[in-house]
Amino acid sequence: MAESSAAPSMKKLQGKVAIVTGGASGIGETTAHLFAEHGARAVVIADIQDKKGQSVAAAIGSEISAYFHCDVTDEEQVKSLVDWTVATYGQLDIMFSNAGIASRLEQSILDLDFSEFDRLFAVNARGVAACVKEAARAMVERRVKGSIVCTASVNARKGALATDYVMSKHAVLGLVRAAGKQLGQHGIRVNAVSPFVVATPLMCELHGKRTYEEEVERTYEPLIPLKGAALKAKNVADAVLFLASDDSALITGQDIVIDGGLLA
Ligand SMILES: NC(=O)c1ccc[n+]([C@@H]2O[C@H](COP(=O)([O-])OP(=O)(O)OC[C@H]3O[C@@H](n4cnc5c(N)ncnc54)[C@H](O)[C@@H]3O)[C@@H](O)[C@H]2O)c1
Repeated sequence: MAESSAAPSMKKLQGKVAIVTGGASGIGETTAHLFAEHGARAVVIADIQDKKGQSVAAAIGSEISAYFHCDVTDEEQVKSLVDWTVATYGQLDIMFSNAGIASRLEQSILDLDFSEFDRLFAVNARGVAACVKEAARAMVERRVKGSIVCTASVNARKGALATDYVMSKHAVLGLVRAAGKQLGQHGIRVNAVSPFVVATPLMCELHGKRTYEEEVERTYEPLIPLKGAALKAKNVADAVLFLASDDSALITGQDIVIDGGLLA
C-alpha cells in the first residue's frame, strides 16, 4: 500500500474517484500514487500493459486502486472503463487522460509515414478525445463538477522533428480549449499539462533501450534555463494534482508548462 505522505489537512483529493490512463508507467504511474497519497477514494489504472498496471494498482493498495485493461484507441473500451468505474465506485470526479506514444525523434515531414501517423494519432489525439468525451458524459449525467486533465507536451507550443507527435500534441491543446469552453456550463474543468523531457520508459526507449534515465537527464538538463535539478515525473504529477484539485477551481481550458523555463 502507498505510504501517505500528505498530512490529513493537506490532502487535496479527499474522497475523489479518479481514472489515470497510461497509469502503468512513467508520468501516469507517479501521478496515480500521488492521487492516492492525497486521499483519493479510488484510483483506476487504465493501460494496455496488464502486468505493469496490475502491479501499480497492487502497490497503491487493492482497497483503493484497481487495474482496468483499456486501449484508448477503442472508444468502446474507454466507455467500458468509465462505466465500470462509476458502477464500482459510484462516480467519476477526475480523468487524467495521459496515455500516449512517441514517434521517431529524427522523423521529418519529408519522410512522414502515414501508417505511423494514423497509429500515433489514434492514441495521442483520438484516444485523448475519447477519454475526455466519455468522462464528461458520465460527469454531466451525474451532475459531477469534475476535473479532466490531459497530457500535452512542450511540443504542443513549438515546432520540432517528430512531425506527427508535434501535431498530435497541438491537437490535445485544441481539444482542451474547446472542451474547456463547452463543459464550463456543467461546472466541469478541462486542462492540460505540458512537460519537457522526463526520463520515463517512453523517453529512454526513444533514445535506444540501452540509454538509462541518468543519460537522458544529462542530455536534456543543460537545455533548461532553471538550474539545479532534472525534470522528474513528480514535477508533472504535482501540476496534475493542482489541476485535479479544488486549488485550481477557476482554471479551465488552460495548459501548465513544466519545462524549467525552456519556452519562456
Ligand atoms: N516523457 C516525456 O519526456 C514526455 C514529455 C512530454 C509529454 N509526454 C507525454 O506524457 C504521457 C505519458 O508518457 P510517459 O513519458 O509517462 O511514457 P510511458 O511510456 O512511461 O507511459 C505511457 C503509458 O501509456 C500507455 N499506453 C500507450 N498506448 C496506450 C493505449 N493505446 N491505450 C492505453 N494506454 C496506452 C503505455 O502502455 C504506458 O504505460 C504521454 O502522453 C507522452 O506523450 C512525455
